[in-house]
Parts: sequence; C-alpha cells; structure tokens
Amino acid sequence: MAQARIGVIGIGTFGINHLRCFRQMGYWGEAELVAAADINEELLEERSQEFDFEPYVDYKEMLANERLDAVTVVTPDPYHREIVIDAAKAGVHVLCEKPLDVTVEGCQEMIDACEDNGVLLQVDFHKRYDEYHIAMKQKIDAGDLGEIEYGYSHMEDRIEVPRDWFPGWAVNSSPGWFLGIHFYDLARFLMNDANGVRVWATGVRRKLRSLGVDTWDSISAKVEFDNGASVMFDTSWILPDTFEAIVNQGIRLVGTEGMLECDSQDRGTITCNYEDGMQTHNMSFLRERTDKQGREIFEGYGMDSIADFARNVNLLLDGGSLEDIGAYPDGHDGLEATKIAAGVHESVESGQIVEL
Ligand SMILES: NC(=O)c1ccc[n+]([C@@H]2O[C@H](COP(=O)([O-])OP(=O)(O)OC[C@H]3O[C@@H](n4cnc5c(N)ncnc54)[C@H](O)[C@@H]3O)[C@@H](O)[C@H]2O)c1
Repeated sequence: MAQARIGVIGIGTFGINHLRCFRQMGYWGEAELVAAADINEELLEERSQEFDFEPYVDYKEMLANERLDAVTVVTPDPYHREIVIDAAKAGVHVLCEKPLDVTVEGCQEMIDACEDNGVLLQVDFHKRYDEYHIAMKQKIDAGDLGEIEYGYSHMEDRIEVPRDWFPGWAVNSSPGWFLGIHFYDLARFLMNDANGVRVWATGVRRKLRSLGVDTWDSISAKVEFDNGASVMFDTSWILPDTFEAIVNQGIRLVGTEGMLECDSQDRGTITCNYEDGMQTHNMSFLRERTDKQGREIFEGYGMDSIADFARNVNLLLDGGSLEDIGAYPDGHDGLEATKIAAGVHESVESGQIVEL
C-alpha cells in the first residue's frame, strides 16, 4: 500500500493536530510527514524539532523542493484560497481546514483549480466523523425522524479563544465563521446534503469590543433548507473562563415521526480539581494515550478526519480514482457551508433576510 508523502502548511494551534496525525500514521506505515511550512520561524524551529520534518518558511518553496503527494492547509481562514490553488497547480492533493474559503467565489475557484489539475480537494469538517453524529445520521437515513421540520444547534467557545489564542485574526473572523461553519455543514450532513435557501441572522458586538477585539460576540441564525426544514444556529465565543469546557455544543432535530438530540460536548466524563474546578471532556474529539513503545498517540474524530484524507490519497496513489473514494467532505460541501455562512454574515450586517 502507498504511503502518502505529506506536507502541512500552517502549524499553529490546530496545525499541531495535523502534525500529530501524520507522525503517528508514519509509525503505522500509512503516511510520511515530510515537511511543513509556516511564516513563524520560531514556531517552525520548535515544531520541526518535536515532529522531525523539513521546515520551510515559504510554502511555495516546499511545494517546489519536496516530492509531495499531498498537503494540508491550516492557515487562518482568509489565507486558504491562494495556498490551495497553488497546491492544486503543483499537482498535490489537498485537505483544507474549514471554512474552505470565506467567499463563495473563492470556494468555486479552489474547486475548479483542483478539478483542472485532477487532485483531491477535501475539507476538514470533522463533525462528520464524530461517532455520535454518524449514529444520528444512520437513524435519520433509516427514517426514524420522518420528514425533518425544524432543529436547533449551538456551538460556543470560552472567551479565551478570540481574546488570547488569536486576537490578531479573530477580528477578521466571527463565531459564525469559526464555529457556525461546523454546524452549517453538520446540518447538511444529517439532512442528506440539504442546501440552505434563506437565512435571517442577528448578532451582538459588546463584550469582545470592550476588550479591544472588535468582532461579533454572538450570532444567532435561522436557516431554511431545501428539504423544508428550518434550523437555528446559535454561535458565540464569549463563554466565561470558568466554563466547564473550552467548547459547548449540541444539536437537535425534530421531524414528522420523531426527534433526536445530541450533546456534542458532554460525553459523560467529568473531572474536578482545585485549579480548574468542574470540567466536562469531549473524549470523542481527542484522546491522548501512550502506545506500547511509549510513543504519544492521539485518537478521536479530530484525528479521524485528517487520517481519512491521507488514506484517500493512498487509494489514489494505488491507482484508484476520485469516484472510488466514496463519501468524504469535498469542495462542494465546503462551498455550500460557506454559502450559508456568507448569507448569515450578510444578514447580520444588513438586518435583512438573505436568499442564498
Ligand atoms: N477543525 C477544527 O475544529 C479547527 C479548530 C481550530 C482551527 N481550525 C482552522 O484551522 C485554521 C488555523 O487555525 P489556528 O487556530 O491553528 O490558527 P493559528 O493562528 O493558531 O495558526 C495559523 C498558523 O498559520 C501560519 N500562517 C499564516 N499565514 C501563512 C502562510 N502564508 N504560510 C504558512 N503559514 C502561515 C501562522 O504563522 C500560524 O502559525 C483556521 O482556518 C481555523 O478555522 C479548525
């Protein structure tokens, strides 16, 4: 079986999970973490020591110098577009972090570039890989809910995310782009790829603005889909530092024959200590363990979606076609989620209902 030679572009807060995933796939002979690129030289030096890859400040140089089969793009949202297009032109397969792009035209350009160059374009919508969501989808597909009529979802971060993690680019993002995009896509996934047709959103800029980070605190959006269902998406990133987890999230859907609810954060594991207080842990997302050789291993849907990409690339390297891969979050899914997110932001800015 082929072992994809992979490079990671952007190795910050989330990029480290891509490095972890490909390093451990290397242990198992499934992929090779060859190189990584980041404009932050200090970080590059630190991570290359830890993960043993060829470091590049300029991703274009990495694409030119290394014989890569694939790259993953984990730069801030506005910088996915150019990098994905450059990677496609270099003939390498691409996994792009969500959102694919912050404009619908950008998504289409990325899809076209990948199609023209015959490379795989996958989007890291990892909520599709959460076993609880997969079980929900199986029940929905089996008809347990009948015709879905409405739903509700929430995704909220502790305030440390926009305030401390990346205040520099949080001002160019929002809870809709950073968090909502996951649930816009999850709703599509659960509802047989239904597409958004209309949206109305409201939002508040107050708390973060008072801290010097001028972006939306919260955005509440109601989206109508082409299957006739309406789903509410409440997103925010101002939960107090003392909240029990970094993320709070969940979804419920109601149909003619039944309903389904999923607490996508609290999986029933809690801890309490003097420093952190009571904490709940989403063990489905990321679990750390040590293997028999004493190596650090990460498991959970946060790894599965990235590993799925490497395995899809291996299938292609072994002579398979894009059609042979079967279901995966592709460029079209990225575009449809961005269409909803862009509509949410147009509506929250204008106060008007937006047709998608
Ligand atoms: N799937 C998820 O649940 C999840 C979670 C967090 C973030 N993300 C996504 O991952 C992406 C990165 O987010 P983050 O939190 O890691 O941000 P971050 O700011 O911590 O890291 C981004 C990194 O990209 C680097 N970078 C910027 N421009 C670059 C360029 N042109 N070439 C190479 N490197 C460049 C920066 O130096 C930084 O190290 C975003 O699109 C975000 O939405 C996804």
